[in-house]
Amino acid sequence: MRKSIALCAALSLLTLVSCSSNSNSAQTTLSPSFDEVIASRRSVRSYDASKKISEEEVRELLLSTQEAPSWANQQPSKYYVAISAEKVAAVQDLVGSNKDRIKDAPVLIVSTFERGKSGFFHGNASNEVGDGWGAYDNGLSNGYLILKARAMGFDTLIMGMRDADALRDLFSIPAEETIMAVIALGYRSGEPKRPEHRSLDEIVKFF
Ligand SMILES: Cc1cc2nc3c(=O)[nH]c(=O)nc-3n(C[C@H](O)[C@H](O)[C@H](O)COP(=O)(O)O)c2cc1C
Repeated sequence: MRKSIALCAALSLLTLVSCSSNSNSAQTTLSPSFDEVIASRRSVRSYDASKKISEEEVRELLLSTQEAPSWANQQPSKYYVAISAEKVAAVQDLVGSNKDRIKDAPVLIVSTFERGKSGFFHGNASNEVGDGWGAYDNGLSNGYLILKARAMGFDTLIMGMRDADALRDLFSIPAEETIMAVIALGYRSGEPKRPEHRSLDEIVKFF
C-alpha cells in the first residue's frame, strides 16, 4: 500500500513538471546561460517560415525591455508590433534591400523613442547630447530585447535601413517620436556566421 502511494506521488510530480514545461515557451526547456545567450546571438538574415511566434510570446519578450535602465527612468522607448500577415507584409515593403533577408520572419517590430524626455529637465536639454540620450535609451531597450529573444530561442535582425515616413503613416506614429530600427523576430534557418571583431586593444584603453 505504502509503495503504491509513493509511486502515485512520484507520478503526479512528474506529470506536474512535464505540464509546467509544456505550457511555457521554449525558454523553460532551453534555459541557456547568459554567456550562451551572448555567444549565440547573431544578426539573422534567413528565417524558418514554418515557425510562428504568438502575441503572448512577444509580450513576454517586450516585458524585458521595461527592465532596461533609462535617463531618470524616463522610459522613452515605444514598440509597434506587426504580427498579422497583412501588417507584416506591409512592413516587409518598407525595409529596402532587407526585404529578402526577413521575408520569412513572422514578427516585425518598429522601435521608436519619445523626444524631449531622456536628457531633458523641465523642457531644457541637460547637456550637449540632447535627444541623443533618447536614442541611447532606445538602444539599451533594444539590447535587452535581442538578448531576451535569444534566451527564448528566437532570433533577430535590427534594421536601420527602413522608410521612417511610410512606417509613421502605417502605424500612426506620433510626430514627437523618432523612429529608430525595425527589428525582425523569428527562428533562424541555418547557422549565421560570426563576423570579424576588432581586437580588444583597439577599442579599450586602461589608465
Ligand atoms: C543600429 C543597427 C542597424 C543595423 N541595420 C542593419 C540593416 O539594415 N540590415 C542588416 O542586414 N543588418 C543591419 N544591422 C546588423 C549589423 O550589420 C550587425 O549587427 C553587425 O554586422 C554585427 O553582426 P552580429 O549582429 O551578427 O554580431 C544593424 C545593426 C544595428 C545595431
